Amino acid sequence: TWTMVNIVDEQVERIREQVGDKRAICALSGGVDSSVAAALVQRAIGDQLTCVFVDHGLLRKGEAEQVERDYVAATDVRLRVVDVSEQFLGALAGVTEPEEKRKIIGREFIRTFEAAEREVIAETVGEPVEFLVQGTLYPDVVESGGGEGAANIKSHHNVGGLPDDLQFTLVEPLRTLFKDEVRQVGEQLGLPPEMVWRHPFPGPGLAIRIIGSVDADRLRILRDADAIVREEIAAAGLERDIWQFPVVLLADVRSVGVQGDGRTYGHPIVLRPVTSEDAMTADWGRLPYDLLERISTRITNEVSEVNRVTLDITSKPPGTIEWE
Ligand code: XMP
Repeated sequence: TWTMVNIVDEQVERIREQVGDKRAICALSGGVDSSVAAALVQRAIGDQLTCVFVDHGLLRKGEAEQVERDYVAATDVRLRVVDVSEQFLGALAGVTEPEEKRKIIGREFIRTFEAAEREVIAETVGEPVEFLVQGTLYPDVVESGGGEGAANIKSHHNVGGLPDDLQFTLVEPLRTLFKDEVRQVGEQLGLPPEMVWRHPFPGPGLAIRIIGSVDADRLRILRDADAIVREEIAAAGLERDIWQFPVVLLADVRSVGVQGDGRTYGHPIVLRPVTSEDAMTADWGRLPYDLLERISTRITNEVSEVNRVTLDITSKPPGTIEWE
């Protein structure tokens, strides 16, 4: 639309003014905000921007490829991929406490990002990187004034949420926008629709959707179940009616089932579809029974370790959206 064209042009102009001929860096998570912010900055300053994508192995099926292939094709952004899944798995081994998981992931993320930054500097003959691009939205600006209830309950590690002591000047081209406007800008910039319309996804990723410790096997089980859910929701055309749909693996729970002549010991999966305006409060999503049936049948048929599919019908409050 006309206003979105204006926003794009205006922001591109503004970014050029702010950054001049200096260099900028951005941590891409695959989420809407950082993707749109980086695409705007790329349009403004081209290869003066380097994006860093930390593949921590906690993403959903296909998401790393989406960033590495589709996003790069759509934006021409200069991308540095750091595959640190082994390192993250090692650091998370045996850890079950949710806040501990968040702390470890936050720490490893910063460590990885700083190393990537040093490499970017080395590549550009020692020229420092002065600017950091962040996908801060208007509601984030308002909320960081403090007093926000839910955000204080969990220590929301956000990919891209880097500590203040990194010596950067921030470039925040989305600071005046709401989520729906950011999506429109994303469409205007020609980003892949799956990215523009992606549901919010927590920085610590699947690690906080495995109740229990995280390992490669458990990640695979959850990733497979989650992919089925996303496929079915897309096929039903309900993606945009749902705010978020965590799929949770109760990895330390064994449920008894029956298959053929024998008993099975598998794991339960929890479906947590929610509707919401801003994640502060939420209601459980009333999905059609036939859709739930398809999801349940497919997960138990296709993911052999899962023998039970349950539906979370708790609103927020008292439940939170995520289980951890
Ligand atoms: P809860 O579970 O508190 O979640 O109702 C509210 C919103 O925040 C997301 N969430 C996180 N996002 N890092 C993030 O970047 C986190 O550690 C984290 N924990 C929860 C959650 O997905 C929902 O959108």
